[in-house]
Amino acid sequence: MAKDPIRILVTGAAGNSFSLITLISYFLLIGQIGYALVPMIARGVMLGPDQPVILHMLDIEPAMEALNGVKMELIDAAFPLLKGVVATTDAVEACKDVDIAIMVGGFPRKEGMERKDVMSKNVSIYKAQASALEKHAAPNCKVLVVANPANTNALILKEFAPSIPEKNISCLTRLDHNRALGQISERLNVDVSYVKNVIIWGNHSSTQYPDVNHATVITGSGEKSVKELVADDQWLKTEFITTVQQRGAAIIKARKLSSALSAASAACDHIRDWVLGTPKGTWVSMGVYSDGSYGIPSGLIYSFPVTCEKGEWSIVKGLKIDEFSREKMDATANELIEEKSLAHSCVN
Ligand code: LMR
Repeated sequence: MAKDPIRILVTGAAGNSFSLITLISYFLLIGQIGYALVPMIARGVMLGPDQPVILHMLDIEPAMEALNGVKMELIDAAFPLLKGVVATTDAVEACKDVDIAIMVGGFPRKEGMERKDVMSKNVSIYKAQASALEKHAAPNCKVLVVANPANTNALILKEFAPSIPEKNISCLTRLDHNRALGQISERLNVDVSYVKNVIIWGNHSSTQYPDVNHATVITGSGEKSVKELVADDQWLKTEFITTVQQRGAAIIKARKLSSALSAASAACDHIRDWVLGTPKGTWVSMGVYSDGSYGIPSGLIYSFPVTCEKGEWSIVKGLKIDEFSREKMDATANELIEEKSLAHSCVN
């Protein structure tokens, strides 16, 4: 029997970068992630080839014509799984009954800007969207925040939508997780699908800590430790970490736009694993509300290694943390504490 369609909200869905609109201060678009993401969802990349979907796309008024253009393209693509498209600038209509909300819209970071620069603009956007989601989304709606500063935007959303369970609010660090897998795969010249269990700890920012201490590569003779195969601790503790930490900035520098296809693909991976489960023996990284695990203060949205089953994530417990890791995990937590207090100071 055919499954009922799942309603998925994508904010910032028009996804263009108009020079005119970039002049407007209240501005939801972020690069082209939304434009890359909606066809992936409609094709079944996110929820599987037998799951029909209805797309809800929200953007700001100046982007409405472009948003209608995206709707026209979605119709023209004749995706068999796509059972409806709502394209709107009205947050209430956009949030109505959605089962999954992917928050791509936010004030975008430009070359040379730090996340902190965009904080106050995003606090007001996320506060407003929290209340629309809380009132109008389906009761068990899962929320993924992609727009930067993603962890803190997600925290603001959580604080202003108290009736949404904290388990249902997350932010994207799967992009960083996938970047770490990619760097190891390149270094070892092995297929990326054989590399697993890297960890991104902390903030989706340049203080994140990409950790390979527990990562392995599947080989013909069983799983081998990434550390042993790379056999270069110096590289793992320096260049590998900074490459992953700085990858977003490197892409902005090269493209003059934020990453889009990799971010959209990571958002699909994040939701797919959350809803359908992580493969046995594999964990992924998700920004989730800290329960105090690994000494990370609760009250932060922090990226942890998680496994997912039956639509619920759980933090992987009991991993051994060495001194080097401890320092890096605390540094990124401290940045999140600062971001949180900056965000609170912007709330009006
Ligand atoms: C990325 O990681 O590619 C994005 O978050 C861009 C950014 O602002 O760093």
